[in-house]
Amino acid sequence: MTYLVVNGPNLNALGHRDPAIYGTLTLEDIQDRITRKGKELGVELSFFQSNSEGAIIDHLQQNGPSCEGVIINPGALTHYSIALRDALADLSVPIIEVHLSNIHAREAFRRRSVTAGAVSGQIAGLGWRGYLAALEYLVEESSNN
Ligand code: DQA
Repeated sequence: MTYLVVNGPNLNALGHRDPAIYGTLTLEDIQDRITRKGKELGVELSFFQSNSEGAIIDHLQQNGPSCEGVIINPGALTHYSIALRDALADLSVPIIEVHLSNIHAREAFRRRSVTAGAVSGQIAGLGWRGYLAALEYLVEESSNN
């Protein structure tokens, strides 16, 4: 029962990147919290971050089909990557798109997600807790099926 947690461009800079918007936790801090939640729920997690669109797509193609579900924060790819959307649409496992910030309350270019139409649901604006909410949802959902 492995869940993929995928983070896109610039999320490796969390901690010092726009802390008023993204908070002060580093990606490692957030991954530690997700790991703790995973232990509580009794599931395995696999973390991946890349600044490269192609590397993320390769990762999803290689690991997506055999996983239980995907949590993805595509970063700025959210707003323009049709290639990522197509890769997500090709997976049959449940996928939750997470954004630390409320993209709908920010600049106009952030309000459009081209990836959202290819996922089960989106969580935006809950900060790092959004990843935990996504994991809880995915685990509960898969135990009901
Ligand atoms: C983000 C929102 C995106 O617009 C931005 O490009 C990011 C982070 C978020 O988590 O709020 O890199 O996905």
